[in-house]
Amino acid sequence: MSKSGDDQVRYEPAAPKKEQGGAQKPASQKSRPLLEYSPVYLLVTIMLTLFTAEWLIMIILNMAPGIPQEWATLINALALTVVIFPVVYFFHYRPKVRDLAELKRVSLVLTESERRIRSVMEATNDSIIQINEKGLIVFWNRAAEALFGYTAKEIMNKKFLTLVTSPRYYVFFEKWFRNELDLVKKNHGDSMGQGQFEVFIKRKNEKVIPVEVSLSSVWLEDSLHTICMVRDITIRKKAFVALKESEKRFREALEKVCMVTAQVEANGKIMFCNDYFLRVTGWEKKDVLGRNLFALFIADKFHAALKKRLYESIAMRVEIKQMEQEIITRSGDCRLVMFNTTNLLDHKGRVIGVTIIGEDITERKKSEEIKKESNERLRKANEELQKAQTQLVRSEKLASLGHLAAGVAHEIRNPLNIISTSIQLLSMEERLSPETVKTSRIVMEQVKRASKITENLREFAREKKPEIIKMDLHDFLERTIALVEYEMSLENITVVRNFNSGPIYLLGDEDQLAQVFLNVIGNARDSMNEKQEEFSYDELQKRGWVGQLVIETIVNEHMAGVRFRDTGVGVTRETKEKIYDPFYTTKREGKGTGLGLAIAYGIIENHGGRIEIESDVGEGAEFSVFLPLATERNA
Ligand SMILES: Nc1ncnc2c1ncn2[C@@H]1O[C@H](COP(=O)(O)OP(=O)(O)O)[C@@H](O)[C@H]1O
Ligand SMILES: [Mg+2]
Repeated sequence: MSKSGDDQVRYEPAAPKKEQGGAQKPASQKSRPLLEYSPVYLLVTIMLTLFTAEWLIMIILNMAPGIPQEWATLINALALTVVIFPVVYFFHYRPKVRDLAELKRVSLVLTESERRIRSVMEATNDSIIQINEKGLIVFWNRAAEALFGYTAKEIMNKKFLTLVTSPRYYVFFEKWFRNELDLVKKNHGDSMGQGQFEVFIKRKNEKVIPVEVSLSSVWLEDSLHTICMVRDITIRKKAFVALKESEKRFREALEKVCMVTAQVEANGKIMFCNDYFLRVTGWEKKDVLGRNLFALFIADKFHAALKKRLYESIAMRVEIKQMEQEIITRSGDCRLVMFNTTNLLDHKGRVIGVTIIGEDITERKKSEEIKKESNERLRKANEELQKAQTQLVRSEKLASLGHLAAGVAHEIRNPLNIISTSIQLLSMEERLSPETVKTSRIVMEQVKRASKITENLREFAREKKPEIIKMDLHDFLERTIALVEYEMSLENITVVRNFNSGPIYLLGDEDQLAQVFLNVIGNARDSMNEKQEEFSYDELQKRGWVGQLVIETIVNEHMAGVRFRDTGVGVTRETKEKIYDPFYTTKREGKGTGLGLAIAYGIIENHGGRIEIESDVGEGAEFSVFLPLATERNA
């Protein structure tokens, strides 16, 4: 079909009024003025003209009676055309004709703008249909052709409602048209309404499709026309149905899943909850929906924190992951739920609430706690066992070594005595060379040293039961410290007393404990001196170092403790492992025997106490000696 042909078809039948026809056929404009007047008006005007002409001829005939009949008719016709008609034309028709010329000009302008509008209506992708007051189609654009399958020629002047599938929809439209007319009448033509419906229409090929129809009324040429914009919403509908479908499936899944599931608005109002949720909490759906999550399920003490967490997650759009929360059931029990949230968005992407999906971990948590507890007990028992074992091994080792040492000491003591006596005899001789005197002095020194070792060995091996008495710990410590404090001060070491405020009485053997404390103090002193040998004292002072032995006493229900903390070189891990071994020493030859702590360990053990070491290499060491308290009963 040719384009221009279409246009013709479209415009001509679409012109129920003269103007539109005129727009297509300008030649017929001349006939328009007469048609502007009603037939009655024209008839009366013509009658009056004829009557006036007749009346004029009667006057002439009366004035000149001799005029023949033929002349009279001729004069009558002349009067009519020459006098009466020009007068009537001049005074009556002319002004109207002037108006009409103006009208014609305006109507031409209108036609032009209408044509422009029509071309726009043609070009749009939406189907546009114009319906006149009788409900007949008077305009039908190309998009409408494509949508409905009818050409403009086929559809023109057909009733619009024939396109609509169900009579049900007629009611919509008719009601709308009627209301619209009423409105327009009431408002004197000023109100141009608008309406929108979703209906099904039938295409030429009988296929029914869903469309959205927007109606608006326009006042055209003294009659109310309706412009229908029709939009195919098949895809939208399908998407909507698919969405509904998937939502339904999703709901079903949520409903069935064995997870505590609820959807709440930002203020906590519950919009949805699944069966499992109800099962865990013991409520019924009707009691839960629309109620507030916090009021119904969360204890007051958790409100602030949980609300804050929820609001934060909504405001910052970070979802909550693996949060544990106690909820209250209908019977007042508490269940522990671990939950995640996902934000619920509206069509504009704003968060309107959250979906909560959680797991009831009450039972799991309980069994986990039991497991943890028994693990902890097991660990402690194991630790104690290990401690007892090392203690046992250590005591065994010390005991067997003790026997050996006692034997060795005894065996060596006699030869040493003989050497010592012999040297003394030898040195009483006269005429000894200076070399011999020097050599015998060295021998004597070494014999003394060996004796000291054997003495220590005997001490170590001595299975002397301690003579336990009630001792005032602070007094005893003061006496012990007094033996070494002055010498230590010469080595830049101060002793700091950090004693418990009240007196402490313990049970012990004064001699043996003096040996222990003197050894521990001696070790601390050696360690701090070693540090000063390694770095000079000046250098250390610059670094803020002070040679300091802090002696602290503490007391608890059963035990008294003495803590010796020094600022020496500290104890390495390796040393710590072997520290109580007899003959283990890190000190240079002649300085240490490695028996001090081995003996101390035995003594403290015999007292029913214990020794502990704490050390950071380079930061000094801390030795703690714990001894049983003297109580009312055992004192
Ligand atoms: N306060 C301490 N600081 C650093 N090391 C220490 C300290 N007390 C003991 N030791 C380490 O333990 C070892 C064993 O000490 P001990 O049994 O008293 O023997 P000795 O003092 O004869 O070496 C020492 O040689 C030393 O290495
Ligand atoms: Mg020592």
